Amino acid sequence: MLVSLKDLLTKASRGHYAVGAFNVNNLETIQAIMDAADAERAPVILSTSEGAIDYAGMEELASLAHIAARRTKRPVVFHLDHGKNYDLVVEAIASGWYTSVMYDGSSLPLTENIKRTTQIVKLAHKKKISVEAELGAIAGIEDFVSVEDRDAHLTDPEQAAEFVKKTGCDALAIAIGTKHGAFKFTGESRLDFGRLKEIAERVSVPLVLHGASGVPANIKKICTTYGCEISSAKGVSDSAVRKAVMLGVCKVNVDTDLRLAFDAGIRKFLKERPEVIDPREILKPAKELMTKVVKQKMKMLGSSGKG
Ligand code: G3H
Ligand code: 13P
Ligand code: ZN
Repeated sequence: MLVSLKDLLTKASRGHYAVGAFNVNNLETIQAIMDAADAERAPVILSTSEGAIDYAGMEELASLAHIAARRTKRPVVFHLDHGKNYDLVVEAIASGWYTSVMYDGSSLPLTENIKRTTQIVKLAHKKKISVEAELGAIAGIEDFVSVEDRDAHLTDPEQAAEFVKKTGCDALAIAIGTKHGAFKFTGESRLDFGRLKEIAERVSVPLVLHGASGVPANIKKICTTYGCEISSAKGVSDSAVRKAVMLGVCKVNVDTDLRLAFDAGIRKFLKERPEVIDPREILKPAKELMTKVVKQKMKMLGSSGKG
């Protein structure tokens, strides 16, 4: 069943849990996520980035997501992730496929981010589509050279309150020290929870944590054993993500952990079964590993049994 992001996150916020938003690029990933959602009876967000749309096509991904949503009893949001290209966001809204779009104006000057986000909100709300917006630079806490530098790039609580009020967005992606990709920290995960608490106290809409992959040790082990060079990869710990959820994060974005699971499954299978050439056989373990990762996320986020 397709639902809007706003409805899904309002429930999550009241229930103090978060919903996983998983990036999808192909059929197998969508199947793997939906298997997990059904097994866990969990709501789910299927996210397509601009890169995913370039790779597979908007209509193709939308068709797969809509069929998956029709076949399940779980609430499903079909979401545009990091729409930086204004025209693409407008196209996604006009297509009628999406129940939620993210307009990412975070790299623009504040006034321009407010202006464009407000325009997107107007267009999207006319069609009952939710809008996620972003304020601050999603970069690892270790990437900042000084406290001043960090303060200048992470989300400012007062500014966040003003931004949400002016734009009317339904959810806000915040920067508190997470980063996209597999290399987020050199040591333990470190997030600015004080900042998150201050944002949550001032902002009325649900908060979104991007760059939240954990780089699970068991998956990383398979990847490295079978030749993937990611030994220094480090993600956000489950306990840090759970703390963020307790402080008000209701949507948690995961892409890297699915990439790692896909990679681990394929590398291991090809090494152990060099005689197989059937893509269906090759991709089966990759799919199963992705399902395992998604189920674990749903349990960790508290969304299992909520769909
Ligand atoms: O936040 C970005 C997601 O990981 C999507 O990555 O742009 O390579 O599809 P992508
Ligand atoms: P990860 O790279 O940590 O999986 O983050 C994905 C993300 O934020 C997608 O928007
Ligand atoms: Zn992101």
